[in-house]
Amino acid sequence: MALKNTNPTKTRAWQKLTSHFSDIKEIHLKEFFKNNANRISDFSFSFDNFTVDYSKNRINQETLELLIELANEVDLKEAIEKYFSGDIINTTENRAVLHTALRDNSSKEILVEKVNVKPEIKATLNQIAEFSEKVIYGKWKGFTGKSITNVVNIGIGGSDLGPNMIVEALQFYKNHLNLHFVSNVDGDHISEIIKKLHPETTLFVIVSKTFTTQETITNATTLKEWFLKSATKKDIAKHFVAVSSNIKEVVEFGISNKNIFPMWNWVGGRFSLWSAVGLSISLSVGFQNFKALLDGASEMDAHFKNTEFEQNIPVISSLISIWYNNFFGCETEAILPYSHYLKKLPEYLQQTSMESNGKSVDRNGKKIDYQTGAIIWGDVGTNMQHAFMQLLHQGTKLIPAEFIGFKESLSDLTAHHKKLMANFCAQTEALAFGKTAEEVHLDLKFNNQSKELSTLLPFKVFGGNKPSTTILIKKLTPNSLGKLIALYEHKVFVQGVVWNIFSFDQFGVELGKELVSKHLNKK
Ligand code: F6P
Repeated sequence: MALKNTNPTKTRAWQKLTSHFSDIKEIHLKEFFKNNANRISDFSFSFDNFTVDYSKNRINQETLELLIELANEVDLKEAIEKYFSGDIINTTENRAVLHTALRDNSSKEILVEKVNVKPEIKATLNQIAEFSEKVIYGKWKGFTGKSITNVVNIGIGGSDLGPNMIVEALQFYKNHLNLHFVSNVDGDHISEIIKKLHPETTLFVIVSKTFTTQETITNATTLKEWFLKSATKKDIAKHFVAVSSNIKEVVEFGISNKNIFPMWNWVGGRFSLWSAVGLSISLSVGFQNFKALLDGASEMDAHFKNTEFEQNIPVISSLISIWYNNFFGCETEAILPYSHYLKKLPEYLQQTSMESNGKSVDRNGKKIDYQTGAIIWGDVGTNMQHAFMQLLHQGTKLIPAEFIGFKESLSDLTAHHKKLMANFCAQTEALAFGKTAEEVHLDLKFNNQSKELSTLLPFKVFGGNKPSTTILIKKLTPNSLGKLIALYEHKVFVQGVVWNIFSFDQFGVELGKELVSKHLNKK
């Protein structure tokens, strides 16, 4: 059964939120904190080793209540049940959306067209485990009998961003294999990677759900030709494997049937890192760590599915984001991880969110007259403090920001971590509370700059009242990373439900693809 069709702006809750917005839009965060000594604990929610602090958002208790009323009016609870149980909620592609099944540890059956998909998920996990083990422990030999040292993941979009981001994020846990990612059809990308490879010791993992994506097939063909300069066609079986749902095309490419890992049409590309698309992750950090990533996601799934909305982290995150997007009129959202390992997270979340919710037609096929998906962007702290944070602090735009930090560091350079986290706290505080003219005045006086007072004062004032959420996690582990990614997946899902759009298709990327052949055929 499809998702319900409710125009959110026509709900009672939306009308109430509109008038509530005019009541509180001018209230400064300082005011909110002054009036409630327990604001941090009132607006912080914990789940396992995660604490999410929403207190520095321009909300009060009533805002949350009304946003939850909105979620109830659009039948979010029922939508979540459909999402997890394999209903055809990707209506425009006539598919279920079951990336959550890939990490479901329960013995419960999950049916797609009346067939339980759990056994094939399990069989694929076993295939990933067995294959990774052979490659990591040097039992998988190349055409001259040498073990594999380099792995190249060839894919784009969801077949690249997820595995690429996780491999980088879990570098601390990696083994001796060198992982490379080729995505762009720009020959410069692949040329630079080829320089680092030797055909005898390289494994190529071609990841493409459709196996028709131009960039991926072009890169895979170039690498096959490069490989065949040193080896013969029969050696391909020792060096090329594929992850795809298009077996016919994979076999035609020359890959042996036993080197194919399945993909299913009920897993969307941008949600696929939990499937065999994550093979490169398992090769890089070992299957146990890959499984721990899946388990973390599964735990977040359970939290999302079973927790009442008032305490439900993905639901609250999503509703607050809607509050800024649709009431404050914010166009963008910043993702700011304070971990260099999460450098690729903002880029990954751009696809998760923007390819899903960048839609302007509702579930009735009607043009929408309200805002949907926000522009997602960001970078790691503290680098970004010296790049774009000026605009967040003193610019004219209101940009809600999500700060992600870890209590414990992975390195033993604890002094670095202390400074990193001091910056983390300082930024959210500066954004929220700013610095008044009186404070600047005192500062200048204290620094014997009284003469400069009249000229410098306006430039040194920080208005504050800039919203942020902090996600504080105990430590970056495969398990906590799995939870974090699942949190964002569910946030995107909830937004799509409320905005009454289809989040799981991506027709917007097709026209550009179609026009490519026209341009290719031009003389
Ligand atoms: O960019 C569109 C898209 O279809 C993405 O959704 C997908 O992740 C990517 O292309 C790659 O597709 P495939 O895995 O079929 O090569």
